Amino acid sequence: VELGLEVRQEDLSASLDAPAPSAADGPNQLADDDTEIVAMDPARVLADPAGCAALGDIVRRLRAIGYDGSPASAARTNGNDGDVDPHAATLVALGRGEGVARRAVVDALGDDAVAALRRCGALLAIDGEMGLSAKVFPMRSVYTLLPHHQEGQDFVYLGRDSVSLFEIVWAARGHGDRAADLGTGNGFIAAALATRYDHVIAADLSHRCVATAAMVPVLNPHLRGRFSAMQLDVANGLRRESFDLVTANAPWVPETKAPDGGEARRFAAGGRTGFELPRRFIDEATDLLAPDGRAFIACSDLGFNDGRRPLREHLPRIEARGFEVRVVETRINELNDFDEWARRKSPGAITGRHVVVEIHRPS
Ligand SMILES: C[S@@+](CC[C@H](N)C(=O)[O-])C[C@H]1O[C@@H](n2cnc3c(N)ncnc32)[C@H](O)[C@@H]1O
Repeated sequence: VELGLEVRQEDLSASLDAPAPSAADGPNQLADDDTEIVAMDPARVLADPAGCAALGDIVRRLRAIGYDGSPASAARTNGNDGDVDPHAATLVALGRGEGVARRAVVDALGDDAVAALRRCGALLAIDGEMGLSAKVFPMRSVYTLLPHHQEGQDFVYLGRDSVSLFEIVWAARGHGDRAADLGTGNGFIAAALATRYDHVIAADLSHRCVATAAMVPVLNPHLRGRFSAMQLDVANGLRRESFDLVTANAPWVPETKAPDGGEARRFAAGGRTGFELPRRFIDEATDLLAPDGRAFIACSDLGFNDGRRPLREHLPRIEARGFEVRVVETRINELNDFDEWARRKSPGAITGRHVVVEIHRPS
């Protein structure tokens, strides 16, 4: 298992470890198998009202079951009195991105929903089974999508670092009018915040991420009117000094090219020292803060053999502008040897930590 951002969504937690249905899993036995598409194109789903309705209905039923991402969420409903969904096990398997016998899927969802989901590429048929082309990711009372990865498409990233940032932000118990989540990925942090803030903006440069985040109100009707997804370069275009909370899990891996030598990975590449792009997120998040507003930015903190420490050298500039700054090491440092990782990833690096920078604008 690689460290940090290379923890892929399949490794995120024991509850979401199901492999994505793949066209490469075996020979196609049925004429209408999907052979090309392996991952959801959220923009295509968004453009299809019947597909959105069918997906929204699956999530409504998962919510009623109490789906928490684990197979046990289906088992728990067995034996309950009252409104037990007889198709709970099928729905939970679909939510986990697992393949299920076609007959069971049709029985659970009905012909019309299956047709609608297949038409927009949200449901794939492979070798006698069907499976969603995304996982349904639960976090507190909100459900978001994690499209499977497809070669040539932006990766919609969600990892242990994302969950670490979320835990820190959630524990701060903030609430208020306006929040923004920059580099939002699938939008789960923004979605959860929309239960505490009157309006939350989920922004990302990746069109695929923005479209995934735009599914949030489709799947969580209680958030409609409180949540907007938009394509932005960091915070460019948002009104300065008008947000009570800003969060960001900036790309923080020290790299300018992908590990295979290809184009830099948008979800991961933080620049040569891993801090070039996070610096922009920190500065622009700071500018967005209203009086008494707070920003939480997750990034890496590397130290180099010539004494440089890019994050630590930058923070005094923010303090000099009158902001209070605190750096918290996250839980994922306990799971990974970040010093070794930093040495391997960035020439001259000798130490590495994963941190969340908290910035407060005094009122
Ligand atoms: C490490 S991922 C974090 C995703 C999500 N916030 C999470 O924590 O799971 C970084 C995100 O930043 C986005 N990103 C990269 N460069 C960006 C830029 N210049 N402006 C806005 N977003 C950017 C990527 O598309 C990706 O979704």
